[in-house]
Amino acid sequence: MCGIVGYTGSKEAFTVLIDGLKKLEYRGYDSAGIALQNDGRLEVAKAAGSIADLERKTRGKFEPVTVGIGHTRWATHGRPTDDNAHPHISCCENFAVVHNGIIENHLALRARLRDEESHRFRSQTDTEVLAHLIEEYYDGDLLLAVRQAVSRVEGSYAMVALSAKEPGRLVCARKDSPLVIGLGEGENFVASDIPALLAHTRKTYILEDGEFASLTPAGVVVTDARGARIDKQLFEVKWDAVAAEKGGYAHFMLKEIMEQPVAVRETLRQRIDAAAGKVTLDELAFTPDEIRNLEKIYIVACGTAYHAGLVGKFAIEKLVGLPVEVDLASEYRYREPLLQKGKHLVIVISQSGETADTLAAMRLSRESGVKVLAVTNVVGSSVSREADQVLFTWAGPEVAVASTKAYLTQLIALYLIALYLGDIRGAVAPALAAELVRGLRALPDQLGLVLAAERLEELRAYAARLARWEDAFFLGRNLDYAVAMEGSLKLKEISYIHAEAYAAGELKHGTLALITEGIPVIALATQQAVLEKTLSNVQEVNARGGSVFAVTQEGHREVARQVDAIFYLPPVHDLLAPVLTAVPLQLIAYYAAAARNCSVDKPRNLAKSVTVE
Ligand code: M6R
Repeated sequence: MCGIVGYTGSKEAFTVLIDGLKKLEYRGYDSAGIALQNDGRLEVAKAAGSIADLERKTRGKFEPVTVGIGHTRWATHGRPTDDNAHPHISCCENFAVVHNGIIENHLALRARLRDEESHRFRSQTDTEVLAHLIEEYYDGDLLLAVRQAVSRVEGSYAMVALSAKEPGRLVCARKDSPLVIGLGEGENFVASDIPALLAHTRKTYILEDGEFASLTPAGVVVTDARGARIDKQLFEVKWDAVAAEKGGYAHFMLKEIMEQPVAVRETLRQRIDAAAGKVTLDELAFTPDEIRNLEKIYIVACGTAYHAGLVGKFAIEKLVGLPVEVDLASEYRYREPLLQKGKHLVIVISQSGETADTLAAMRLSRESGVKVLAVTNVVGSSVSREADQVLFTWAGPEVAVASTKAYLTQLIALYLIALYLGDIRGAVAPALAAELVRGLRALPDQLGLVLAAERLEELRAYAARLARWEDAFFLGRNLDYAVAMEGSLKLKEISYIHAEAYAAGELKHGTLALITEGIPVIALATQQAVLEKTLSNVQEVNARGGSVFAVTQEGHREVARQVDAIFYLPPVHDLLAPVLTAVPLQLIAYYAAAARNCSVDKPRNLAKSVTVE
């Protein structure tokens, strides 16, 4: 997500901040900025674009001061513009703030600060309220003001504040977003990620949720929300710079798989009314009549996003009661779809928001007058700018070519859309909606269980065996078939093992001829309604000597008797099961690719964003 760097010491802060921000570039960003403390005032420079652009525009323009904060922004609230870049300053220009995370109640806070306290806002960001709140509460102690400010805030934050009035001091706070203090000799640092610190120090304090830190060149004091001092344990970083970028994981793909509980939680944030058992997508501006008049929905996407769409079809057909056609964008754009203005809605899904075929499909749909709802992960992307409406996934930047956390958050977005449309059309029973809302909210913790260390070992052991084969099959019915297609794509794209996904019932129509002694077959059996049918297909494989690894839900004990190995998922509503089922498949692909020494993050012949046809 966004990157934070702060410095207080005796070196030239401009260089420390710019160099630190460059070390966070791998995370992706769309604007950058710094604020420097200079003799009782703050100097701020920020711009959309790259850190190199910011550096070119500003180097030599500042006096060589020694305290400052810097930020790279990945746009969430507000487009990637100069004004929306961090740091954000308060009205009096004495306070500057950089922030990662989402302030959920920023609209209410902004309205109060503007209407009742006459604060002037310069950006569309949620972050800016923090600068104004600090100004509001400041009474000579920045730490106190930050404590009071964040006590008003709902959501997640890693933030650093700088005051013009307190020379050499930085104050930071954390909740649900990482922040690390770097300890130096006569200087101290703060950053959202360890790579920004490694050129200066390996001695760190990892801030925990609810902790605050006050940094000066002479020392660092960590306190809790009541101001009580906390004795922090020193964490000595042993990773090299490359490992540090990956948070200590061997590959970005594994890091991104492990980030999925957070990505799912962020994508659900502010979109669920738990008390009412409903979904509230305030960012969508369809009129109730537009939704009620719909007769059909198209979902259009490529690759992994297309596979998410296949799951979306099940959710929408069940909860909205409308027929859904799912199309590969490269096919859709040339097949003259029978679009009807007002009666049809097109949902395009694209992590990057720049995929050429998806963009073309979107333009073609809009030319016919049909409304397009985009699901994308990148604010300011072409898809997000051109669509009629956008629902963002909050997965954060995905660096590995193989899509993992973006896929899971696309599934979440589609469930949210289905519940939202179903509610407005009166198509979903309130009890079912409430049950699914509870199920969605439980997913981040359930993902955490699937990603527990001992579960990873189960998958690594299976993947080590799979890695010796050149062919593999994935089977499933209904939603399991949709996830099987994604599992198969994941395995082939990074491990180069030839993999095919089949609707389990199709086996005997041809594919069974390929089942030979020992061949790996991954059978997905999470769907109660078709469990017996899937198991009879497993028997067909067993009878030909195939070796079956099954993924099923806890409680489906009968599956174990019929397969060679099994992976249990926590019990989950069948409709939501794909969110959990996909994870072991991602990990099997990852461990198999690693065992085969493949270039996991950058598979041969593939690019992260396919901007050409
Ligand atoms: O950026 P998009 O979601 O539009 O990308 C679509 C596909 O290129 C993408 O999902 C691709 O299949 C994955 N990187 C595979 O893991």
